This record gives sequence, C-alpha cells and structure tokens, in this order.
Amino acid sequence: MFKTLNYTVKDRIAYINIHRPDALNALNGQVIEELYQAFTKVKEDDQVGGVILSGEGKAFVAGADIAAMSQMTPLEGRDFAIHGHRTMNFIETLEKPVIAAVNGFALGGGCELAMACDIRIASKNAKFGQPEVNLGIIPGFGGTQRLARLVGRGMAKYLIMTAEIIKADRALEIGLVEEVTTSEELIERATAVMETILSKAPVAVGIAKATINQGENLDMNTASNLEIEAFTGCCASVDKKEGMEAFLQKRPAKFQGK
Ligand code: COA
Repeated sequence: MFKTLNYTVKDRIAYINIHRPDALNALNGQVIEELYQAFTKVKEDDQVGGVILSGEGKAFVAGADIAAMSQMTPLEGRDFAIHGHRTMNFIETLEKPVIAAVNGFALGGGCELAMACDIRIASKNAKFGQPEVNLGIIPGFGGTQRLARLVGRGMAKYLIMTAEIIKADRALEIGLVEEVTTSEELIERATAVMETILSKAPVAVGIAKATINQGENLDMNTASNLEIEAFTGCCASVDKKEGMEAFLQKRPAKFQGK
C-alpha cells in the first residue's frame, strides 16, 4: 500500500517504519504524503489505539530531502514547507498517542518529525540536530517553534544557530527526548510504554493530549478554562464511571473508549 513506509498493526499498536534507507529515510514529497495517509489510516481505524514511528536502518530520518530541495523554486519551497507542516500538525493533533522510536539520525525534518510525536524514546546511538543553516535555510517543518517549546528558546537558538548535532544522552538532558535505551531494546521499550498508555482510559488520554497541546499556545487564564471544559468532557464519559467504580470496588477497570 505504501512505497516508502512499512505499516503493520499488532495488539492495537500501529508500527509505522519509514523505509527509504538509500537516502537515510530523507523526507521527500512522497514520504511526507504517505505519512499523512498512514496517520489518516490510524485515525480512521478503531482497532488501532496508538502509533510507534521509527526509521529503517541507521537513520530515523536524516532530514528533508536535500536533492529535492536543491531544485525547488521559492514557491515550490513554500509548498514543500506547507506540505510538511500539514503532516506534522496532523500527527500532533491526532487524538491517539504517538511515540517516536528514534533509532539513529534525527536531523532537520527528522528531528521535527520526532517533535511532532507525543513522546520520544531514543536508542543510545541516536543523534539529533537542526543543521539547516549549513544549507542556507532554516527548519521548515515546525522546528523553530516546536524545539523552542520543548527545550526553551535559548537552547533552541543554540542548536539551530550552531547546527550542532547532539547525542541521545545530551538530548535526554535538555528534554528533547524522554528516555534513552539500547538499539536492541528500542521497539520493545516503546511498545511497553505504549501498552501502559493503552491500558488507561482512551478518551481521557486523547483529551489530555489535546488539552496539553492547545493550552501551550494560550494565556494561563484561557488555558485553565480549556482544562475545566476538557475535564467536564471526561466526566461525561462512560470510562470515567467505569474507572471510578472499578477503583472503589477494588478491581481492574475495563475501559471502552467511550
Ligand atoms: N537528503 C537527501 N539525501 C540524503 C540526506 C538528505 N537529508 N541525508 C542523507 N542522504 C543520502 C546521501 O546523499 C547518501 O546518498 P548516496 O549514497 O546516493 O550518496 C545516502 O543518503 C547516505 O548518506 P551518507 O552521507 O553517505 O551517510 P553518512 O553516514 O556518511 O552520513 C549524515 C550521515 C546524516 C551525517 C549525512 O548523510 C548528512 O549530513 N545528511 C544530511 C543531514 C542534513 O543536513 N539534514 C537536514 C536537511 S534540511
């Protein structure tokens, strides 16, 4: 079904593996479009609760495709950035959890893709960076915005303006990734984290994700009101009734996602 991705589903988890190893999984128009389609499939499939996104071979994604970008006119470059943002925003706003299992280079568009996911787990050999200024451009798939929000403006400026590539341990220190593990255990560990999330009330998990994302761009007062309404929404769910009854009856909850 996809030419640049492998898409498999096991035990309610969709595993999306970017598969363009000859170009270190660089994001050209086709990969960006297929990612959009793959995440649309996730959204529409009730059997899928969450996604683990990884790259084939020694890279997660080594960036936007430099060969393709080198041929673009300014307007084509603009369309390329719009296309990239559309996919990143779709992943970020999907009301299902998405974990990036970063197995190698996550540079430029690869770092931006990882940042559009909810949680980043990296293998020890993973490397992160926004090296666009080496090429006379800036991050174009959300990097100037998401990196600053994740690690702070000073560190985002440092990384983007120096183009420094950092190792996984440093990415952990600055809050760019949540966990570092071995290459061998990466998918297993991402699966374990996803299984934990999928054992919780799905409506609440989806609403928590949306509320955190939306609140980030609001003033505290408006964000507090957003949380109050989101909390009210959870109170109306079947899962809230079940979760609380199960606690009081000292038994495991059986959530329905309603
Ligand atoms: N776009 C297009 N092709 C890319 C690419 C990218 N972002 N990153 C790597 N590739 C291609 C290389 O051109 C090479 O193709 P070739 O075999 O046809 O020559 C192939 O992937 C393997 O890359 P190579 O550079 O030989 O691997 P390496 O292990 O020596 O170096 C990197 C790995 C990641 C350090 C290096 O590929 C690199 O710096 N890539 C660009 C990173 C970047 O600037 N990304 C931001 C783009 S906005």
